[in-house]
Amino acid sequence: MKILENYSLKPYNSFRIDVAAKRFAVFDDADQLAGLLRFYNKPDVFVLGGGSNILFTGNYNGLILLNGIRGIELIKEDEHYVYVRAGAGENWHGFVQYCIQRNWAGVENLSLIPGSVGAGPIQNIGAYGVELKDVLFELEAFHIRDKKVHAFTVNDCGFGYRDSIFKTKFRNQYFIVNVTFRLNKVPVFHTSYGAIGEELKKMGVKELSIQAISEAVIRIRSSKLPDPNVIGNAGSFFKNPQVTRTVFENLLKKYPTLPGFDNPDGSKKLAAGWMIEQCGWKGYRKGDAGCHEKQALVLVNYGHATGKDILDLADEIVKSVKARFGVELEREVNVV
Ligand code: EPU
Repeated sequence: MKILENYSLKPYNSFRIDVAAKRFAVFDDADQLAGLLRFYNKPDVFVLGGGSNILFTGNYNGLILLNGIRGIELIKEDEHYVYVRAGAGENWHGFVQYCIQRNWAGVENLSLIPGSVGAGPIQNIGAYGVELKDVLFELEAFHIRDKKVHAFTVNDCGFGYRDSIFKTKFRNQYFIVNVTFRLNKVPVFHTSYGAIGEELKKMGVKELSIQAISEAVIRIRSSKLPDPNVIGNAGSFFKNPQVTRTVFENLLKKYPTLPGFDNPDGSKKLAAGWMIEQCGWKGYRKGDAGCHEKQALVLVNYGHATGKDILDLADEIVKSVKARFGVELEREVNVV
């Protein structure tokens, strides 16, 4: 457990922003984390997981801690379910593959999401009709002040669309240590999200399986979303805005092809990518900051963009969407 100084964060953020941490250390378990926090007793501490939902806008003057807690363990099973615990520092897609290989169903729609297991609950990652909250059973998180590990059931986490209690009420107070998933022994397939059905058809799949769904999701994601190892990005930069049915219907009169998705409470989720594209941003590039050519919701760093370059572009996009549609886009990415 060594604290390194003036350490480059470029390899640790998927936007590939070239900034450094004044101090940097890796921890492998909660005891090491407690030790580091006792040694560095200041508030400017930030725990990094996969770095795939973050935009650094400058050097970090405090201590960056990289979550290196590993391990995947089957902790119990019953007639219908397996309960699997994964260390927060495990790579998310690696975990998904581990489950698929063992025929544990539930996370296949979440294939290829960049980042770590521990980052998943913070923003309740979701894709193609499934959210993390659907498969999460409980998690353990370390509290920065009392330096103890606390257990949270799925109901304790306050999950919403790309939201949890760890992003709101408990922001920067807890570090996720491990997550326990409840996965199905007999799969329940989620193929209602349009693009999945189409892709499965294209693949000529006759018999549905979690392997086939995972493969379909991987194909869709690879065709639309830029690989962070090739072009820096953090997935969707903005959330899809939620509006009332009345607002949606009024917008629809003016923009009849505006995509909207039903929320369980009757409100509507608008496709931010569509609105950004309509404003002419798709494929736009200014210096090394850009709006992805295949998915307008994704902002990209073509090489040497700074966090401020990306943020300036994001602000311009927010303004133009607001001017045209009267809708305020909210960032999904965490700006530090
Ligand atoms: N669309 C456009 N132009 C674009 C992008 C999208 O017209 O440039 C339209 C599509 O044609 C479609 C609708 O918008 O009618 C929705 O597009 P898509 O299925 O690509 O999904 P999304 O709403 O843009 C969300 C998530 C993604 C997730 C996909 C699939 C958010 C903020 N994003 O994107 O999650 O992979 O659905 O479930 O909810 C992420 O969070 O980082 C992420 C990539």
